[in-house]
Amino acid sequence: MPTQLHPETQAIHVGIPDLGGARPLNTPLYQTANFGYDNPEDLAEAINSPASFAYLRNSNPTVRALEDAVSALEGAAASLATSSGMGAIHTVLHTLLGSGDHIIVQKHLYGGTFALLRDLSARYGVDVTYIDGRDAAEVAEALRPTTKVLYLETLSNPTAQVTDLPAFFAAGRTAGLTGVVD
Ligand SMILES: Cc1ncc(COP(=O)(O)O)c(C=O)c1O
Repeated sequence: MPTQLHPETQAIHVGIPDLGGARPLNTPLYQTANFGYDNPEDLAEAINSPASFAYLRNSNPTVRALEDAVSALEGAAASLATSSGMGAIHTVLHTLLGSGDHIIVQKHLYGGTFALLRDLSARYGVDVTYIDGRDAAEVAEALRPTTKVLYLETLSNPTAQVTDLPAFFAAGRTAGLTGVVD
């Protein structure tokens, strides 16, 4: 142990074990906000690369392991983990919709999502049309030139309506919409 380090520094930076080639069989929880690099150039490169690790909120190996496992299980090109369901829904809708865009939504809907759509409509001028979610022909009927997204729930909360997702999303794809399912 280097004796020239202050006790505060030793408390944080000393005692990290060299695993000597051993690897944990389960993914460790990386409880660090920042990642260090040997030189500033490597850090700068890591900050700008989605595949690297520099700051926890942008990327974290534990979260990456979850996302990659979900992608493998779902046969998905990529996954993004968020800290809550509403965090995911907020992220998706804010990414896909802008002022003046239109979204078609199943009316049997989780209350938090309903409140978010009400806000998007009132504050940002996103137009929302609610459909029953019983007949896929409703998609074509609700369509506008500004429609961007078709939003459904797999098993609606709280009414437990089971919507025919393949039929609805096929109708959405035909109309060039991005399908979102909660
Ligand atoms: C269908 C549905 N979507 C979204 C949410 C929100 O999830 P969270 O509480 O993780 O934000 C819930 C929560 O019950 C839900 O039932």
